[in-house]
Amino acid sequence: MKVLLTGCNGQLGRELTKQLTACQTDFVGYDIPDFDITDKKAMAEIIEKEKPSVIINCGAMTNVDGCETHREAAMKVNGEGPGKLAEIARDQDITLVHVSTDYVFDGNGIEENGKKRPYVETDAIDPKTVYGESKALGEKLVAQTAPKHFIIRTAWLYGDGKNFVKTMLGLADTHPELTVVDDQVGSPTSTVDLARAILALIQTQQYGLYHGTCEGQCSWCDFAKAIFELSGKPVHVVPVTSEEYPSDTPRPKYSVLENAGLKGLGINAFRPWKESLVEYLKRLENQEV
Ligand SMILES: NC(=O)c1ccc[n+]([C@@H]2O[C@H](COP(=O)([O-])OP(=O)(O)OC[C@H]3O[C@@H](n4cnc5c(N)ncnc54)[C@H](OP(=O)(O)O)[C@@H]3O)[C@@H](O)[C@H]2O)c1
Repeated sequence: MKVLLTGCNGQLGRELTKQLTACQTDFVGYDIPDFDITDKKAMAEIIEKEKPSVIINCGAMTNVDGCETHREAAMKVNGEGPGKLAEIARDQDITLVHVSTDYVFDGNGIEENGKKRPYVETDAIDPKTVYGESKALGEKLVAQTAPKHFIIRTAWLYGDGKNFVKTMLGLADTHPELTVVDDQVGSPTSTVDLARAILALIQTQQYGLYHGTCEGQCSWCDFAKAIFELSGKPVHVVPVTSEEYPSDTPRPKYSVLENAGLKGLGINAFRPWKESLVEYLKRLENQEV
């Protein structure tokens, strides 16, 4: 197996680079400007040269507010680009792994027996943001074009890069008190767990759509409290509503995904979110991320 990794300098790309190196898999990593997912000709030339049997696409425009104000670019990078990669994968009989997001759902959750239940892979999507719309287009084009595809939706991702954990810890140095929204719920997910799941999936031929997030759920406020407690920072966290803390782009109130597909295959190894967070904070302390 030879893997070509795109978006290798992003959070997930960096973790996959570590894990692929550790398990001595033959792989090569690319990112923009050398490998631009919007440029089919340039991608085809690189893929022709590298001859991978698997492509893992971590390249994306992930700034949710930026997507809202740069719709055309978002649709090209997150939507049409994965479609172009899927055409190359189809034509060269390559397995394509594509990473997607909880933002493809409407973010309201689905009520069952009087309470919300996590989204499963078969639930209808209904994106409410340009980011979600662009990622939904990417999913659709990959699914309909590349016969050997894995699409894995994740959420609330943190790893080696800019993320909520680092933002909170940065603010802790100057803010004894912080207000954090407590009416948006999701599952904080470590890139370590997600990269492991991707590497497990490509050992199978069970192509299709999967959810991949750490187990359990919390609000951003709970997440912030856990970050400060576990790292011994004396910050008082004050819960606020989304209405009290408005953002330019609507954020999903409910982003919990059930890893139903991975569980069905018996390979769901995502840990409870707090367990993965403890490990991440140790890695941060050791300046590994
Ligand atoms: N972060 C989250 O909370 C989250 C949640 C759910 C799903 N996801 C999905 O998970 C995947 C990985 O996310 P991540 O957090 O690792 O993202 P990230 O850190 O933003 O990394 C994305 C990488 O893609 C690169 N890129 C941008 N435009 C590109 C283009 N035209 N062609 C090729 N590469 C390009 C970026 O380069 P620049 O940095 O130079 O732009 C960056 O290196 C993405 O598909 C994302 O949509 C993320």
